[in-house]
Amino acid sequence: MTSKRPKIALYYASHDGQTRKIADRLAAHLGARDIDASTTDLSTSPIPTIDTEADLVLLASAIRYGFHLPAARRFLGRLRTEVPDGRIAVVSVNLTARKPGRQTAEGNVYLRNWLKRTGLRPAFAAAVAGKLDYPAYRWFDRTMMRAIMTISGGPTDPSTVIEYTDWAAVESLAAELAALVSATP
Ligand SMILES: Cc1cc2nc3c(=O)[nH]c(=O)nc-3n(C[C@H](O)[C@H](O)[C@H](O)COP(=O)(O)O)c2cc1C
Repeated sequence: MTSKRPKIALYYASHDGQTRKIADRLAAHLGARDIDASTTDLSTSPIPTIDTEADLVLLASAIRYGFHLPAARRFLGRLRTEVPDGRIAVVSVNLTARKPGRQTAEGNVYLRNWLKRTGLRPAFAAAVAGKLDYPAYRWFDRTMMRAIMTISGGPTDPSTVIEYTDWAAVESLAAELAALVSATP
């Protein structure tokens, strides 16, 4: 008799594509570990149906101007009415996570505040560094991001494009997630 493969349903909110890329990479690593992993884009409306059969529902969202994207915040509200916190995982994608020690719920201000504000106690929470791409931003966003980078000691040259995402760390996250759903009771 074959046993059922553990399942992780990933939902993501991405503005410029990096969170989508991270969610896709997580799903690929999970698939390689024999986890049934699906990805769903939250930018489509209406809010997609939630796979309540999944062993774990992962929500990944980009940060813009200090907040997770509205689609992710709306989704989380509904998710919590359908799935217990213990089967929810969250991944925050931001540029603060490029710095050492800022990849955890304690060390990353956006993740910490999100959990505090919502009272969510997820099974898993992590922050992943995103991408800085000044040429791709509108004038206003580029100006604001250069100001944010000046304050936080990052690059300000308007031609800068840097993918800060640590892909080895993303693979490690996938391994942790796989272990969570594969653990035998
Ligand atoms: C307009 C704008 C505002 C941003 N605000 C923040 C911020 O407040 N804090 C931060 O750490 N990163 C911030 N970022 C960085 C994004 O989180 C990062 O670029 C991430 O990769 C975006 O993910 P996405 O490509 O999925 O939209 C901002 C980026 C942009 C373009």
